[in-house]
Amino acid sequence: MKNRTGRGGPAAGRTVGDPAGPTIGPTAGERARNGRPWEPGRTAPLLEVEDLSVVFDTARGPVPAVRDVSFRLEPGEIFGLVGESGSGKSTVLSAIMRLLPSVAVTDATTLRFRDTDLLRLDAAGLRSVRGTGIGLVPQRPMTSLSPVTPLRKQLRWFLGDRDPAEVTELLDQVGLRAVAERLDGYPFEFSGGQLQRLLIMLAALARRPALLLADEPTTTLDATVQAQVLRLLLDLRDRLGIGIVFVSHDLGVIAQICDRAGVMYAGRLVESAPVGALFDAPRHPYTRALLRALPSRYTRGERIKVIEGSAAGANRIPGCAFAPRCPRADAVCGEQVPALRTVAGSLVRCHHAEEDAA
Ligand SMILES: Nc1ncnc2c1ncn2[C@@H]1O[C@H](COP(=O)(O)OP(=O)(O)OP(=O)(O)O)[C@@H](O)[C@H]1O
Ligand code: SF4
Ligand SMILES: [Mg+2]
Repeated sequence: MKNRTGRGGPAAGRTVGDPAGPTIGPTAGERARNGRPWEPGRTAPLLEVEDLSVVFDTARGPVPAVRDVSFRLEPGEIFGLVGESGSGKSTVLSAIMRLLPSVAVTDATTLRFRDTDLLRLDAAGLRSVRGTGIGLVPQRPMTSLSPVTPLRKQLRWFLGDRDPAEVTELLDQVGLRAVAERLDGYPFEFSGGQLQRLLIMLAALARRPALLLADEPTTTLDATVQAQVLRLLLDLRDRLGIGIVFVSHDLGVIAQICDRAGVMYAGRLVESAPVGALFDAPRHPYTRALLRALPSRYTRGERIKVIEGSAAGANRIPGCAFAPRCPRADAVCGEQVPALRTVAGSLVRCHHAEEDAA
């Protein structure tokens, strides 16, 4: 049976780039060969998400933002989440952190961090998990900081009275040593990339959580700083065995740092697989279309095959949400929601995945 938070719930209401880009770190296969301080598959899961659904109860009717999403994460594993804008990626992360507004109703069979049932935590329990157990790098750094408070004071809210040398050392690890002298400034006096790195520092380094939820942490960064931040995350994973859910639009970054990845469409996970399988043998028509739309696959002057149509309103249509844009759609696709099935080692939500894999 599903557990529920949100209106009337027990804890009131809170409940693609270039895969051929520069190499950031060892691939999942290389890491497996090299050995690591944690053993995937042999340890208890760090995070279990089973049948997670989130509906926003708005004045214009319910918005089913996340629908039956399931995945699990081992310590030391990096799970990528990709999908079009509005597909529900940030909502999944907010649901795990129990940071959704009171208009959100969250349902799940399981939402567990280590031994903790996140859906049943009260306010004090949530405070003890947030930040120290689970860290969140929010998608929009500017709206995550107070615009009317100097950064130094905001750092103190989060870090307490730490030794200034320790703070400088933390800033240095995300390439921000240069701003250590001007922390009395306000957020608008810093670039988006600097604020993004500051939030990565607070979420990932300051308290070293076992689980990091990173919502497009490198989107606003230039290529050099992006590589620096990705190496930092890989280093944390390798040294401390932290698990990371990594949301990105950049398939190149997903290919390079994730062990497994899930593709979301209209609130559902439509394919979930080890990154090698996802990129070499995509099973879902949407995943294939996403990969076909990568600019790196085309030579100069060639016309890029974009995905025709739009995902707007797709979470309200019956049957498969991708049907209006899918070249493979038939009558059954328009009537029945496909179940998630295992096809050649990948989890795929498509009526015709087996036939296409044959
Ligand atoms: N507070 C809210 N109230 C109503 N609807 C919301 C709210 N927050 C998100 N939504 C809706 O939920 C859906 C999923 O939004 P979400 O932000 O999770 O998407 P996303 O995949 O993270 O998109 P992006 O790539 O643009 O960040 C969207 O339709 C969005 O409009
Ligand atoms: S279920 Fe049908 S419409 Fe949906 S992705 Fe598969 S073939 Fe396309
Ligand atoms: Mg988002």
